[in-house]
Amino acid sequence: MTATPPAALRDRYVDLLMGCLTRELFLGEEAHDVDLGLWPGDIADLRSTLRDNGWRLTSRGGDAVKRADGNDWPPAAETMVGRQRLADVRRCVDAVLADGVPGDFIETGVWRGGVTILIRGMLEAWGDTDRLVWVADSFQGLPAPDAEAFPQDVGHDMSDVPTLAVSADQVRANFARYGLLDDRVRFLEGWFRDTLPAAPIDRLAVLRLDGDMYESTMDALEALYPKLSVGGYVIVDDYGAWEPCRQACTDYRARHGITDEIVEIDWTGVHWRRTA
Ligand SMILES: C[S@@+](CC[C@H](N)C(=O)[O-])C[C@H]1O[C@@H](n2cnc3c(N)ncnc32)[C@H](O)[C@@H]1O
Repeated sequence: MTATPPAALRDRYVDLLMGCLTRELFLGEEAHDVDLGLWPGDIADLRSTLRDNGWRLTSRGGDAVKRADGNDWPPAAETMVGRQRLADVRRCVDAVLADGVPGDFIETGVWRGGVTILIRGMLEAWGDTDRLVWVADSFQGLPAPDAEAFPQDVGHDMSDVPTLAVSADQVRANFARYGLLDDRVRFLEGWFRDTLPAAPIDRLAVLRLDGDMYESTMDALEALYPKLSVGGYVIVDDYGAWEPCRQACTDYRARHGITDEIVEIDWTGVHWRRTA
């Protein structure tokens, strides 16, 4: 019998992890709430029966194309970024480990934690013993737009979307589900404006921004970009989808004379690699 080479085993583990974190492996089983508002006719009785008994109507099966593109909000998956942007995280982490780019990893805006779980899993599989994974979020959803300080966010209020508020305990439980919760996973709980400037991070190899808003993107860039090693990556999840996020990147890059090439990942995500 020939032994499977360690690199191939490692790749198979990461493939499996990605399939679980996106739930692509279990799309057929996925339960989606049925929107009764779309049903025709008088269904008031059905509605009250469901409500009174705490029942829900669900349909089975997720959309494979949307999931690959990270273009839906999955009911149970630990990430909404989809396979293409997760694969980009994998390539960036692989590259900085292969090239010996110093520093930790952070995602600002983790939701259920899937991206950071993938990174922690890769560190385990690559045999890395000292880099940290920083998990930064309010764990209560997006802030309301601050019209005075960040007029770019006006008209983009997502602060009352309950699906976006996932508690830190839930995210810890998600790490633990994969056997990846330990003291190399560090939580920064609170609004970025309060947590990031004082975060005890020395250096970063990958800085992944997924806070959607101008304020959230700018706060993360201001506090963390100076800590990014040359050769490290900035990944911006919402660059294509959210004009305020793109504007924050454009403003920050212009202010600091950053001209590194912006590489498109998919319909919304981009990254650039720091060269200076
Ligand atoms: C779109 S979700 C992130 C998706 C996630 N990266 C994934 O893999 O599915 C945006 C997250 O950013 C967080 N967030 C946005 N702005 C924030 C801010 N200014 N401070 C703290 N958390 C923020 C929200 O709580 C939410 O969890």
